[in-house]
Formats: sequence, structure tokens, C-alpha cells
Amino acid sequence: MKDKLAKARRKIDGIDRKMAKLFSDRMDAVREIARYKREHGLEIQDTARETEVLKRNSELVPEEYVRSYTDFLKKLISLSKEEQADILGEMDNANGAATVLKMHLGENSYPIIVGKGLIGSADEYFKLDRKAFIVTDDGVPTEYADTVRSLCKRATVYTVKAGESSKSFDVLQEMLKAMSDFHLNRGDCVVAVGGGVVGDLAGFASSVYMRGIDFYNVPTTLLSQVDASVGGKTAINLCGVKNTVGAFKQPKAVLVDVGVLETLPKRHMRNGMAEVIKMAAVANEKLFAALENSSEEDTYNNIASIITEAVKIKRDIVEADEKESGLRKILNFGHTLGHAIEESERCDRLHGECVAIGMIPVSLADAKDRISSLLRKYSLPTSHDVDSELISRGIAHDKKAKGDKISIIFCPQIGKYCIKNMTVEEFTSIIE
Ligand SMILES: NC(=O)c1ccc[n+]([C@@H]2O[C@H](COP(=O)([O-])OP(=O)(O)OC[C@H]3O[C@@H](n4cnc5c(N)ncnc54)[C@H](O)[C@@H]3O)[C@@H](O)[C@H]2O)c1
Repeated sequence: MKDKLAKARRKIDGIDRKMAKLFSDRMDAVREIARYKREHGLEIQDTARETEVLKRNSELVPEEYVRSYTDFLKKLISLSKEEQADILGEMDNANGAATVLKMHLGENSYPIIVGKGLIGSADEYFKLDRKAFIVTDDGVPTEYADTVRSLCKRATVYTVKAGESSKSFDVLQEMLKAMSDFHLNRGDCVVAVGGGVVGDLAGFASSVYMRGIDFYNVPTTLLSQVDASVGGKTAINLCGVKNTVGAFKQPKAVLVDVGVLETLPKRHMRNGMAEVIKMAAVANEKLFAALENSSEEDTYNNIASIITEAVKIKRDIVEADEKESGLRKILNFGHTLGHAIEESERCDRLHGECVAIGMIPVSLADAKDRISSLLRKYSLPTSHDVDSELISRGIAHDKKAKGDKISIIFCPQIGKYCIKNMTVEEFTSIIE
């Protein structure tokens, strides 16, 4: 008798293993459908399809199981719809003031909340009932970090000097020491309140401090809201070479308050627009065309939805390729030449401005004209006068290099990209 029971249980265990695999495969397919629906603006609910699934499948089991199998299928459909809702994820929060986008990366998933006037309720989105080490820079209005501090149980604000020079080992070391002096431990958190420099530096510090502690980001420049704060890349520079030392560290949440852009100088708004144009150029023709058809003023008046669209582009790419082994490389469009210019001595251009210049030689045919003219609308540069020797040296440092070849992202047509592997010499000759 006991043998019989054990045998039946072994059989069930075997079936459960197969079902777990089938369930995971089914959910993977559900996610694909959700992404398709998201892309094409389709509703989650599809009653005709549901009825058909129930009917067709209930006919596959013996009469005696039809009722319970139908219940099982209904539960499965309901779970699938929940999963789809999660993927579609763009739901308004309780008071309708924010859009919540969800980055799906398994256990590293996190929300990106976009809206106006959100910083004063950061504690609704971040777990701040613990010690928080808030990092900002001396160019960011102090009220932003102070507001976050006022919402924390116990916090300190650590201020670095504004500018790229803060992405250095010296600054990192001082900061880690301050974290330790504040007795920050593994259950506590780091909160970045600033642009891409603060986000990259604080994010990297949080990834190495005690082998990693929680990190939240409140990006305060347009560039960091649409790009730097999303996707988990953190880094500091080494000997003048950009982002050489870094880590993938996904934040626990990103709070994008477009209200803070009111204090951001226009040059920095335009700098951020360079990254928006970059993403639209290689991944979203519709957004690119919308920018072409809108004045600079109208775009800024509508900035929350532009940011939401740009974040969706980046989110979708990062979800498909978190660690940049493939698709994510397309976000480096314009960056190979851009970084080389940025690293050249006496460069006083901002990151986005360098990327703007970097996009031109890698845009082809009609795309080149459309990108140039959109960049000009935002008074962004499209050419440079940096010595070609310095440029070649900068390109040779490129982290996208494999062997003696670098992967270059081209835009053959708006909304499309292609990747070509070439030597530094070949790429330099294209630029020239
Ligand atoms: N991690 C990534 O995926 C990623 C992506 C793109 C760029 N980056 C990095 O981001 C950095 C550039 O970021 P950035 O353009 O935000 O520059 P930044 O962080 O230097 O900020 C620009 C300036 O604006 C000031 N500022 C910030 N917010 C303000 C506000 N609301 N009002 C007034 N002033 C404000 C800052 O003090 C600073 O002087 C570069 O180091 C770049 O490598 C990282």
C-alpha cells in the first residue's frame, strides 16, 4: 500500500516538474504578447480569445475533469492578465499625478515614477524608514536633497563638487569613508539627488560599499532623467578615460520629478534632448517625427510625456539585454566619437553635446539630414574641431572594442540601426 502511495507521489512530482517548465514557457509567451500589445497600443482584455481558449482546451480532458480543468484555465488566464498588466505597467498612481513604468529584470525589477512635484513624496516610493546617505552636488539646488532628507528617518546629505571631475577614485574614496563614518550598514540605503555625475558616482559607491547596499535615484537633469538613471550602469572615470571603472547596479526605484527641471539651465535641457534624439533616431521613428513636428518650447511644455516615451525606449532595450551583450549596444549610438571628444583635453562640451556631434558621421543618407536638423533645433553642435590624433587615441580606448575592432552603431534610416565591426583606422577614416 505504502509503495503504491510513494509511486503515485513520484509520478505527481514528475508531472509537477514538467508543469513548472510548461508554466514558465507559457508566462514567457505571455510576456511577449504583453510587449507586442504595449508596442501596438492593444488592450489586455480580449474576451473572444479567452472564450476560445477555454472552449478548445476544456474539450481536451475527459468529461469528469471538464469543470475543474475549466476553473484551472480561468485561474491561469487571470494570472496571465496580471502578468500582462505588470508588463504594460503604465498605470497612473492613486492621485493620477504620476506614471509608473516598471523595469522588469527578475529580482532586480524596479519602478520608474515620472510626474511633477513628486520629490516631496519620495517616501511613498522609497523605503526611507532607515538610514539614508543622500548624495548631491554643489550645483544642484540644495532644497532637493533637503526635501528628501526631511522624509527620512535618519539621513545625512553628502555634497560633491559639480562636474565630471567628481567621477574619480579620490572623490569615491572620500565618499565611502563618509558612508562608513555615518555607520551606514547593509540594511541602509544611498539616495542620489542630482544629474548623471551624482547618479553614476553614488550608484557605483552603493554597488561596492559592503558588497552592495540599496540605491535610489532622484535624477535632476533631463539627461539623467531620460538616460543615466535608467538601466543600472554606474561608473567613475580612470586617468581621463570615461566610465572605465564601474558596475551594473540596478536601483530599487527611480523618481523622475519634472518639476526640478524648472531650475535647470537651458543648455542642460538641450544636452538632455541630445540623448532623447539619439534614442528616437535608432529606436522610435514615431517619437523622432513628433519632435520634428514640435517647437522647442512645446516639447518642454510637454516634457513629462517626452521623458516617459524616452524611458520606455530605454526600458524595453535594457529589459531585453541588461548587461549589454547585444541590443543595448544601440544606445551607444554617437558615443564612440562622442566619448573621444569628451575625453580630449580642454573639452568644454557637455556629454549630450558630444553625443550630438558623434551621431553625425554614423548617420546615413536621409537620416543624417533629419538628425542634423533636429539637433540644430535644440542649438546642439553637429561638428567639432578636436585634433584628429586625439580623436583616434580616444577611439582606441573605446570599451566596445573587441580585439582590434570596435562595434559601431549606425543609423541607416530613422527608427533603424545596424552594427558594424571595424578597426580604429577604418572608423577614423569615416569620421574624417
Ligand atoms: N549611467 C548611464 O547610463 C549614463 C548615461 C548617460 C550619461 N551618463 C553620465 O552622466 C553624466 C552627465 O550627466 P548630466 O548631464 O546630468 O551632468 P551633471 O550631473 O554634471 O549635471 C549637470 C549640471 O547641472 C547641475 N544640476 C543638476 N540638476 C539641476 C537642477 N535641477 N537645477 C539646476 N542645476 C542642476 C549640476 O550641479 C551640474 O552642474 C556623464 O558623466 C555621463 O557619462 C551616464
